[in-house]
Amino acid sequence: MEERIISARRRAEDDIQENSLRPRTLSEYIGQEKLKQNLSVFIKAARERGDSLDHVLLYGPPGLGKTTLSQIIAAELGVNLRATSGPAIERPGDLAAILTNLAPYDVLFIDEIHRLNRSVEEILYPAMEDFALDIIIGKGPSARSLRLDLVPFTLIGATTRAGALSSPLRDRFGVVARLEFYSDHELKEIIMRAAKILQVEIDEAGALTIAKSSRGTPRVATRLLKRVRDFAQIKANNVINTSVAKQALQMLEVDSLGLDEVDRHLLRTMIEKFGGGPVGLDTLAAAISEETETIEDVYEPYLMQIGFLQRTPRGRVVTPRAYQHLGLPMLRQNEQETLW
Ligand code: ADE
Repeated sequence: MEERIISARRRAEDDIQENSLRPRTLSEYIGQEKLKQNLSVFIKAARERGDSLDHVLLYGPPGLGKTTLSQIIAAELGVNLRATSGPAIERPGDLAAILTNLAPYDVLFIDEIHRLNRSVEEILYPAMEDFALDIIIGKGPSARSLRLDLVPFTLIGATTRAGALSSPLRDRFGVVARLEFYSDHELKEIIMRAAKILQVEIDEAGALTIAKSSRGTPRVATRLLKRVRDFAQIKANNVINTSVAKQALQMLEVDSLGLDEVDRHLLRTMIEKFGGGPVGLDTLAAAISEETETIEDVYEPYLMQIGFLQRTPRGRVVTPRAYQHLGLPMLRQNEQETLW
């Protein structure tokens, strides 16, 4: 019980710190260079014309900065950000209430926009296209449609799966941007910046060690930095260097490529129970007791990025590189068959 309270408190502290670690302007934001350049032009042009910025769809794996970028876009436009999420908007009336309360040029941020239900989504179409709300009054033959004007606004939708968006919704975004995994160098810079804010002493090599284990993801990088800092505080005079970072990561069971227990369990299960694949997503999810969505959105993108996993029409397949990393022997085809 005690432990749970402490870990809840720790999580709350992390959330507050996460907020203070977020960059607040495009110039503070590290990485996603092409997107930043484009956004900077679109924002300046909209401001110069006195227009609202066109609607923006940000997609990509979790933790790459979709929420942060939305906050930055609102700040650079000099407007308010109203943040909500797909599952939180249950009925059309909920969305109508949000839309009618926006101030001109505000940014409305809808996280997990692929999880909006259809009846809510239909309210969005005229809202995005004409800044209008179509309301149906009455039922049956006497039903009438009434059009209410909305103020101009910018919708920023964020999703881990652009493919799950209906095409009428996707087509209404003027800017569609995919967030990419960050390079080790970019993550190192993000860690150095965060360490400065957290007032932890760290050298470049120590930051690079943490960066390499951060799965291309800033959210992972800052989380690992905080845990390595704890280790440094108790065991290493509050200074993070390569050796301290390596020891701390080992304690956290995060390996040199950033794979954790779940990643390794997933790969090992595919190898040991399914001969390395091909194995269907549902079968795999059942075998490791995870949701299919979590596997698709959280674990697979990075494993594919580092070339450990392939999606094929017949199912998921582990690559020789993964066997090598895990130190497992690859069975030849006929040996695999005798396993079945
Ligand atoms: N903290 C988290 N993500 C960041 C980024 N992209 N740039 C700077 N600091 C960050």
